[in-house]
Amino acid sequence: TTRRPLIAGNWKMHGLKASLQEFDRMVAAYDGELRARTDLMICPPATLIAALAAAAGTSGVAVGGQDCHAQAQGAHTGDIAAEMILDAGGRAVILGHSERRTDHGETDAAVRAKTLAAWRAGLVAVVCVGEHRQQREEGVALDLVRVQLAGSIPDGATAENLVVAYEPVWAIGTGLTPSVADIAEMHGAIRAALVARFGEAVGNGIRILYGGSVKPGNAAEILAVADVDGALVGGASLKAGDFLAIAGAY
Ligand code: G3H
Repeated sequence: TTRRPLIAGNWKMHGLKASLQEFDRMVAAYDGELRARTDLMICPPATLIAALAAAAGTSGVAVGGQDCHAQAQGAHTGDIAAEMILDAGGRAVILGHSERRTDHGETDAAVRAKTLAAWRAGLVAVVCVGEHRQQREEGVALDLVRVQLAGSIPDGATAENLVVAYEPVWAIGTGLTPSVADIAEMHGAIRAALVARFGEAVGNGIRILYGGSVKPGNAAEILAVADVDGALVGGASLKAGDFLAIAGAY
């Protein structure tokens, strides 16, 4: 199975209109060999989705959201629907990021409902899983991630509508990363779980991203690991130079 790599940037709660300059530099660089071999996406704060989508134009750089509500509309102050992300020009949405799970108490069941909402709207769901440091130390990381996958991903996943992002929580924003052996073990386990549940064709087609302190200096090593089909990049996605260096490292 040949999976097209995806380098996705998660801007988290960073970005004002001035950040369009960085995005414009990414768009300008996305051509030739890079565009031929790699998908690029930026998930800005919701306030910037429409502006980035307009700036992306026909460049092929995708724009996505960072969360959505499970319902299409309703009395939910402060929330946005998957349909609104689509309407603003987004094509995907990150769901179940550890910061959502921690800050907003999102459970696997909630992430599952949001994934169904993303699919209802026609968005690609980027479903995040990953263990906390203590779970890694206790040796239960693989089991924990299998439980998160089973609970967070609904039936009906395809290679087109789902991307899985493995983000060990202790590696996010810390400069720490697992060993390549540990990344390989986890991504292999995620692949096996996807194949077991969705069959060979779908399970082998779904892209599995690694996230957590991916930088220009470690990207080549991480992206070379089997079953690592790209990266979900936080801090290093805010600067065009860093993000493009990571994308070029695949
Ligand atoms: O979604 C992105 C991740 O949480 C990684 O963030 O690259 O700043 O460690 P980071």
